[in-house]
Amino acid sequence: MHIVVRESDEEVGRYAADVIAQIVRRGGATIGLATGSSPMSTYAELIRLHKEEGLSFADTQAFTLDEYVGLAPDHEQSYHKTIRDAIVDHIDLPLSHLNTPNGVAENLVAEAERHESNIRKAGGVDVQLLGIGNNGHIGFNEPSSSLASRTRVESLTQSTIDANARFFENPDDVPRLCITQGLGTIMECGVALLVAQGESKADAIAAMVEGPVTASCPASVLQFHPHAIVVVDEAAASKLKDRAYYDLAQANRERLIANGGTL
Ligand code: GLP
Repeated sequence: MHIVVRESDEEVGRYAADVIAQIVRRGGATIGLATGSSPMSTYAELIRLHKEEGLSFADTQAFTLDEYVGLAPDHEQSYHKTIRDAIVDHIDLPLSHLNTPNGVAENLVAEAERHESNIRKAGGVDVQLLGIGNNGHIGFNEPSSSLASRTRVESLTQSTIDANARFFENPDDVPRLCITQGLGTIMECGVALLVAQGESKADAIAAMVEGPVTASCPASVLQFHPHAIVVVDEAAASKLKDRAYYDLAQANRERLIANGGTL
């Protein structure tokens, strides 16, 4: 894993957006988008790159990680609507290129399989942006998810329901089920780019990077990913034990890049 520690949320966003922009500029890219507050600074920077520096997403395809079951795409809290508000409606990615699972599909199992097979048909995701839940989940793969899981209907844990209740008027309105890309699905992406900010993510980040690979911390499966980049702020990095080595390794990578290497 590449561990990149930056001083502020804004700088986390700038670093992550640069990784995505490099891949988008190659043309015909497929990007994986995540909801939640963590990717917001990355989206802000991608929008700036689009508006001020001509970064175009016109030939990019996008897939989201997950969706709440029971919320129609135009529901204020659906992940379809959330991702449109956060980035898609502010860049030139055609709406027809945005692929999200439909949380009100009549046959949810078939809908999950459709999302999975559309990713495959698009040739896979080149770069997948990820946040991490306090309990180590990625997408909505809660602890105990198979490390080889595929896109499926899944149950949310009480801790995730509680964490996401802040977005709903009434805690009882938080959906209990979701459709999420599986860990095996996510692991097939070209670059896994995980961003995290704040003290509340420090335990999950330490468990993911320095703990064992275990379904108890689903994000730890990224230790098996050939190209995982973890971009965190100081607070989210605060429980990492091997910090000095990560800083050294990142400085060396930046030197190699400056000398003409690629990420
Ligand atoms: C949600 C999403 C995840 C997200 C996580 C953290 O439940 N399904 O994709 O990474 O929670 O959210 P936040 O970034 O708001 O802390």
